[in-house]
Amino acid sequence: MLIFFKFVMREARRPVRNMALMAVIAGATNGLILAIINYASEAITYGVHEPVLFVAFLAAILIVSYTHKRLIRLGSKQVERILHRLRMDLTRRMALCELQSVEEVGKAKFLTAMVQEIQVISRNVPQIVNACQAASLTVFGSIYLMFISFPAFLVLVAVVGIGVLLYRVKTQERNELLVKAFKSESAVVHRLHDVLDGAKELRLNRDKARDLVEDFEQVSIKGANAKSDAMICVAEDYVTGRSLFYIILAIQIFIIPSFAAKLGLDLQKSTAAVLFLLWPVNSVLLALPVMEMVSVALQNIETLRRKVKSIEVDAAAHQETRDFETVELKDVSFTYPARGHVVPYTIGPINLTLRKGEVVFVTGGNGYGKSTLLKVFSGLYKPSAGQILVDGAMVEPDAGYRALMTSVFSDFHLFHKLYGLENYDKARAGELLQLLELHDKVALESGAFSTLALSSGQRKRLGLFVAVLEKRPILILDEWAAEQDPIFRRKFYQEIIPWLKAQGQTVLAVTHDDQYFSTADRCLVMHKGQLTQGYSDD
Ligand SMILES: Nc1ncnc2c1ncn2[C@@H]1O[C@H](COP(=O)(O)OP(=O)(O)OP(=O)(O)O)[C@@H](O)[C@H]1O
Ligand SMILES: [Mg+2]
Repeated sequence: MLIFFKFVMREARRPVRNMALMAVIAGATNGLILAIINYASEAITYGVHEPVLFVAFLAAILIVSYTHKRLIRLGSKQVERILHRLRMDLTRRMALCELQSVEEVGKAKFLTAMVQEIQVISRNVPQIVNACQAASLTVFGSIYLMFISFPAFLVLVAVVGIGVLLYRVKTQERNELLVKAFKSESAVVHRLHDVLDGAKELRLNRDKARDLVEDFEQVSIKGANAKSDAMICVAEDYVTGRSLFYIILAIQIFIIPSFAAKLGLDLQKSTAAVLFLLWPVNSVLLALPVMEMVSVALQNIETLRRKVKSIEVDAAAHQETRDFETVELKDVSFTYPARGHVVPYTIGPINLTLRKGEVVFVTGGNGYGKSTLLKVFSGLYKPSAGQILVDGAMVEPDAGYRALMTSVFSDFHLFHKLYGLENYDKARAGELLQLLELHDKVALESGAFSTLALSSGQRKRLGLFVAVLEKRPILILDEWAAEQDPIFRRKFYQEIIPWLKAQGQTVLAVTHDDQYFSTADRCLVMHKGQLTQGYSDD
């Protein structure tokens, strides 16, 4: 629960102060309304009419309704604003953090946090805002009650205390159930990706589709059970809250009257006060489990935020594309993080020097670490050991280093817009589209592609188009020509690569096209994670 308050204070200290002020004014005025009612009803029993009280009563109602509305307005605005900031922060972190963090988090967890957790917060915070106002009213009302009936005040404090204690006893159980419920949601989203991404495979093979649906059913039932367990626990707290509400009423109506005469209590006034306080007390007690739910959602988001720590804060400052003469990997090795009992794959130690303007091909068997080498070389994976040197000086594989690179990996992504390329060379773009034989397929309209509905070979060509247009010194290609037809493949090696070289573009490319190895300045072989010079048939 503390997480919720800490979070709110961190994100919106000043607006929360304003809201607290509104809640205090509303609570105090509500207390005043109670006092006016009691005073007026007493006056009526003596046959006295007090028009001043009526005016005060109306004024108090106006103040309460204004402050309450303002509180709701401030609360709703702040919540959505905070959620917007949270979404932006998560997206920014996910877009900028290290590639390995993104791979570790995975799509499902990220999407669940962005949709499910944020929705839980958005849906439940209004109830918490209301409860804050109710809490303020409870405090002021209790002070009033303390003066007119101390025993009734003690009953109220004791019962609320017991309510809070009962609620705290179940904190751990409730927390675990809520965490499980959120996790199950992430598993459901994971399977949904299979349903959408595997659309073709599922339609061609009904058995596969049947199995997947059955598997989904299991995950979904598990999720439903986890969620209902959590909701039952929360709902039971609701019922406890409500029962305590009736206990306060019962004590006031059935027990306190027996002592009223002895203690000299004004039963009418204290019953009115207790009745008046039941709604706010109830709201506060009911809001406690809701607050827990919101706290768990916040905790999940916080864990995700920590996992996707943003890379250098001042990344933009280092993002200037610079030039280079040599980039050198010196005794660099990289090991994937350990998962389960499988021994993680390691490449290296690798020694590789890439000179400006060179075209270097890397070949080798499947799973021997070629793509991993490209990711390490381009700074996407941090080396586990060894050094990266640019022009002889040691550098970190940070955004500044990465600014040397542009790439088309095998699982590249085509953005519909030329993000980060406001001032691209239009003449060069035209020439390149022509060279890639895409000029009658795709057009660029205000920095966006007219279509991305292309064949896979054409999509690859468009990927290369964007990468080359970025004008970064080093072009990284991972089996780029794999989807190209033989004629265009030849064109790629015999025309496009020389065209790039003539423009001073350095190229580091993984390829299996051995008939074109001669078009490179050097050809290296990756064998079981080790890099060797020259091509061998192994
Ligand atoms: N994300 C990952 N997490 C853990 N291990 C991985 C991961 N990706 C690859 N590996 C391991 O690293 C090894 C090298 O993978 P890599 O993708 O670099 O091979 P490759 O030479 O590019 O193969 P291919 O020719 O099939 O593209 C693989 O054998 C695999 O076991
Ligand atoms: Mg590969």
